[in-house]
Amino acid sequence: MVGLPLCGLVVLFTCGVFGDFVSSPPIPSDKTTPIHQRLAFRGPTAMVVAWNTFQRIATPTVHYGTRIDALTSSASSDSSVTFPTSRTWANTVVLTDLQPYTTYYYKIESTNSSVLTFTTARIPGDMTPFTAAAVIDMGLFGKDGMTVPASKRHLIPRIEPGLEHTTIGALDRMSSEYDFIIHPGDIAYADNWITANPLYAFFQAQAYESITERFFLQLQSISGIKPYMVGPGNHEATCVEMPFPCAAGQKNFSSFINRYGLVMPTATTINSLTSVAAAAARAHASRLAKPPFWYSFDYGMAHFVMFDTETDLGNGIIGPDEPGGGANLGSGPFGGKNQQFNFLQQDLASVDRAVTPWLIVAGHRPWYSAKPTCSECQKAFESLFIQYGVDLAVFGHVHNMQEIAPIANDVVDPAGLNNPKAPWYIVTGAAGNIEGLAPLGEQPSYITWADDTVFGFSKLLFQDRNHLTVQFVRSRDGVILRNSTLYKAHTTRFVGALAGVKWSQ
Ligand SMILES: *[C@@H]1O[C@H](CO)[C@@H](O)[C@H](O)[C@H]1NC(C)=O
Ligand SMILES: *[C@@H]1O[C@H](CO)[C@@H](O)[C@H](O)[C@H]1NC(C)=O
Ligand SMILES: *[C@@H]1O[C@H](CO)[C@@H](O)[C@H](O)[C@H]1NC(C)=O
Repeated sequence: MVGLPLCGLVVLFTCGVFGDFVSSPPIPSDKTTPIHQRLAFRGPTAMVVAWNTFQRIATPTVHYGTRIDALTSSASSDSSVTFPTSRTWANTVVLTDLQPYTTYYYKIESTNSSVLTFTTARIPGDMTPFTAAAVIDMGLFGKDGMTVPASKRHLIPRIEPGLEHTTIGALDRMSSEYDFIIHPGDIAYADNWITANPLYAFFQAQAYESITERFFLQLQSISGIKPYMVGPGNHEATCVEMPFPCAAGQKNFSSFINRYGLVMPTATTINSLTSVAAAAARAHASRLAKPPFWYSFDYGMAHFVMFDTETDLGNGIIGPDEPGGGANLGSGPFGGKNQQFNFLQQDLASVDRAVTPWLIVAGHRPWYSAKPTCSECQKAFESLFIQYGVDLAVFGHVHNMQEIAPIANDVVDPAGLNNPKAPWYIVTGAAGNIEGLAPLGEQPSYITWADDTVFGFSKLLFQDRNHLTVQFVRSRDGVILRNSTLYKAHTTRFVGALAGVKWSQ
């Protein structure tokens, strides 16, 4: 509603005359129609199903079963929430007592919904190969979003999404080639309405909501069938990345929190029989987790930690999106003093490499990258990642693809990909968005491969307890541009503080 007073200032663009200037998706006549379906793991025996509707739903309900013609189970909640400037309500239901790695059919209760499917996570310790997709910096495609390279930006309003070879299209076509998606930040790019059309300034709140709704309509074909694990980026923070009187619902990560706060998990509990100390650390981590900002989950042979580079860096370091931070987006903090740091310490320490040999972290802003880099993030997080033996760190923010040598404290590990001690890093921020690709410019010598000419994403292929392949994939045609395999011996069961712990059988 912030746009309204501005409207009156300009004679030609009064709200009455140009109220439809921003085109919003049509509201279905059946307001129980589910849209923006999204899934998230909550351990190997539970799945979170969330969706939006154009009305509040008193008892959001999901019917499900392992056969399409027998949706004999159901789960409900009373969680149907909205916030200022949103036209929709976010509904969340947790399905529990599921079988691990099992395909279920589900139907959101509505007079106008269809049956979709999901597959639950593999149990921690299952060493079957699997693949995760990593996409970052995506945003709306088509009108008001990204469709073409920046040089053809002026064509954007005339190109329909269906005509373009986008990352959303690639993830859709290739959905049988990965098990789930991680997306640490810069999701819808609703705050880039000014790039889509500067005149949207007169209808700012409406433009932000419209781009948000249209993006999640595009994403639902993927996020409704694949768990889609998100983290925060700078484009989630406020209504626009400049001083502007944002409406209450469009600052301080409100839209992101409303959509994902109840959807992302905390941390998976682990069996205290493997180690009482590790189980206690994991339980502690679970209490310190702050979804959707920082949390963790397991999948088969891997433990994933999603962390927040935007706020809550801890130890007195001001996060880039905090008041007075580098990006100064007036957001956060979301946890108590050092809460994220303490979460990371407990969670990373709890990882039993006999169960989940691979330890992956994913955040938005990188510190090893062709510019820009986040030095305050490096100060906040790198020593933890070194200490606890992180295998791979996944970042975006910079709109291109970069593979970086295993590196610690700015020194490249001489072992390379052959059992390095230092974490391996990638930047995979080329999913494609209205800002376009970023030229690499001068490349630091630790970059082992890079591409700034095409849109793409990454596939993480967990082959066995010792081999992890990272592929950079071109969205246009699925061609693999780069294929690198990390070997890790993983002989130390607990890397870091718990190293001295004695193990029961
Ligand atoms: C039913 O849902 C579809 C989208 O799945 C929508 O296009 C249609 O308008 C909805 N029908 C009603 C009556 O709302
Ligand atoms: C942002 O929201 C959090 C609660 O979600 C609150 O604690 C914090 O103070 C808010 N930050 C600002 C700058 O308003
Ligand atoms: C990539 O590497 C994996 C593992 O080494 C191999 O199985 C696959 O065939 C490779 N793919 C391409 C396209 O090189």
